[in-house]
Amino acid sequence: MQDRLTSTPHQSDEIARIGVFDSGVGGLTVLKEIYRQLPHESVLYFGDTARVPYGTRSAAEILKFTRQTLDWMVQQRVKMAIMACNTSSALALETVQSEYDLPILGVILPGARAAALQGRRIGVIATPATVNSNAYLHAILEANPRTQIWQVACPKFVPIIEHNRIAAPDTLQIATAYIQPLLDRSIDTLVYGCTHYPHLEPVLRQFVPRTIQFINPAVAVVTAAANELNLLGIQSHCKAMPTKFIVSGDPAQFTQIASQWLPAPLVQQIILPTVTVS
Ligand code: DGL
Repeated sequence: MQDRLTSTPHQSDEIARIGVFDSGVGGLTVLKEIYRQLPHESVLYFGDTARVPYGTRSAAEILKFTRQTLDWMVQQRVKMAIMACNTSSALALETVQSEYDLPILGVILPGARAAALQGRRIGVIATPATVNSNAYLHAILEANPRTQIWQVACPKFVPIIEHNRIAAPDTLQIATAYIQPLLDRSIDTLVYGCTHYPHLEPVLRQFVPRTIQFINPAVAVVTAAANELNLLGIQSHCKAMPTKFIVSGDPAQFTQIASQWLPAPLVQQIILPTVTVS
């Protein structure tokens, strides 16, 4: 099948890259946390921008795209993969964890545990696919059965972010329409159930009261990755290499959007041999 990594750590695993992937720029919120918590680790970032958004696709498509990305990442000899995408984590993580001989982490479990530790009345904003999976609902309730949870699907958010319209005049109005029903429930905690959404924080902070805490699962997944690397003895002690950015769509568009959060990333395009838009 695929070129698999052995689970026995090699000397070279320490300096191998961590593979981070998302449908687009959402995973940059996880990348930022890697830079903060794991400054010695090198990253291979893949944004499947030719097929964004994932959140309105079927479970079968998401599983197929996830396998294609992981097949390619294994060929690139990454030492670990982080699904910096809630939609893939909700719909494909369990399946692929049993298929690949590679540590694969998803954002939902770490994010749900962080939310359950801090909140009692929890709002989750996510893509339609993630909301429909009820992955957060189940994971938060498992971590703390005394929590109350309300979920809202926000299908307009990812296109707003991917098309550089965060500062557009109607974004605040769209965000308010999605989130006001959660505020009406007197939530104390709001979970970013999509890795794109922390990019909207400047907009959300305009109307979400300061008393409501935001949970960004990126923080918890990178802490989990750090623990896993230590456990496996494959953490890097070397200077990190510059992040390699690869996208399936237009590299110039990715660079333009990503430059808001990263200093001039150098982005390459790849046409994955296995990637065909269905
Ligand atoms: N950022 C991803 C997520 O966390 C994907 C969003 C999308 O492509 O719809 O779900």
